[in-house]
Amino acid sequence: MKKAQITGIGFNVPERIVTNQDLEKIMDTNDQWIQKRSGITQRHWVGEESNTSILAIKAAKNAMLDAKIDANDIDLVICATLTSDYFFPGISNQIQHALEMRKVGAFDIKAACSAFIYSLSIGDQFIRTEQYKTILVVGAEVQSTALDISDEGRNISVLFADGAGAAILQATDSNKGILSTHLHSDGKFLKELWCEAPGTSNNPRLTKDILDEGKHLPYMNGREVFKNAVRRFPEVINEALDANKLTIDDIAQIIPHQANHRISEAVARRMGVGMDKVFSNIKNYGNTTAASIPIAMCEAREKGLFSSDDIIILAAFGAGFTWASTAIRW
Ligand code: COA
Repeated sequence: MKKAQITGIGFNVPERIVTNQDLEKIMDTNDQWIQKRSGITQRHWVGEESNTSILAIKAAKNAMLDAKIDANDIDLVICATLTSDYFFPGISNQIQHALEMRKVGAFDIKAACSAFIYSLSIGDQFIRTEQYKTILVVGAEVQSTALDISDEGRNISVLFADGAGAAILQATDSNKGILSTHLHSDGKFLKELWCEAPGTSNNPRLTKDILDEGKHLPYMNGREVFKNAVRRFPEVINEALDANKLTIDDIAQIIPHQANHRISEAVARRMGVGMDKVFSNIKNYGNTTAASIPIAMCEAREKGLFSSDDIIILAAFGAGFTWASTAIRW
């Protein structure tokens, strides 16, 4: 049976860097609090000129260069994002058009921080069934323009950031590629990390009252998210190990969604490994939602933390709640 191999990866973040010291000037926060609670020292936020599709298109081009393919080779575009340029359609169509691809299928996946793994899983199914040979999977977000950067929003706004990453999946007969994917959700926790508006639960969807009440801004119950994340990450990583009859010693690198450095440290402890085996770059990027895993994959490879034939595990947890993992032989 065909397997889906990742033959190229790339990323792109906005040029503008916002440090913790910059945030101190606009809200009641401080570098020490942010670093201690999250591990973040800086993040990239778009300037006025950028939006999610611009970040996504550059990341996709970088991944295509890395895979040494051109736009004509691509059979399908899947874009993981919560923050499309417009309420509809999604940005996958803009990516298809901007990169001058054939008129291939293109759709967005809205599964919050788990969306990149959900998207890899969907791409994997299309390749295993031999419907498509080459698939572009993108994770892209602009969170910064929807954050409450007043004192009231400080528990969230210091964490989230902007960026994009992409991967090219190609059919292979070799033993390399996606070994398994596991996807989960529990909608009971919907309101613990959510953004209420605009949405069809309000009619009309967007009014001055909705804006005045701040329902268009994300809300997070940080403690509930933390408690669930430190449980679900190890659970879904172990699911990937068990499904492939692997132990943690077989894994070159766990690359988790960059939610929070303290969550990654707790995951490492629960998995019985050191932080040398759990990749973290949240210090420089903050939490870029669906983009964090492909950005982290690029940097982990660049640092030589995994290479050809190594097995890595990607794992995610986020709003929904959703959580997911995939084991990949590189
Ligand atoms: N700067 C300074 N102080 C802040 C602050 C900020 N940016 N945000 C909150 N505080 C204050 C609170 O007002 C509170 O003050 P008080 O004790 O005077 O009331 C204090 O810090 C503690 O707040 P609390 O929310 O209880 O902190 P916490 O220990 O739970 O840490 C998070 C907050 C958000 C860092 C933590 O809950 C967390 O990491 N959650 C997971 C978040 C996450 O990963 N989300 C992404 C999932 S994909």
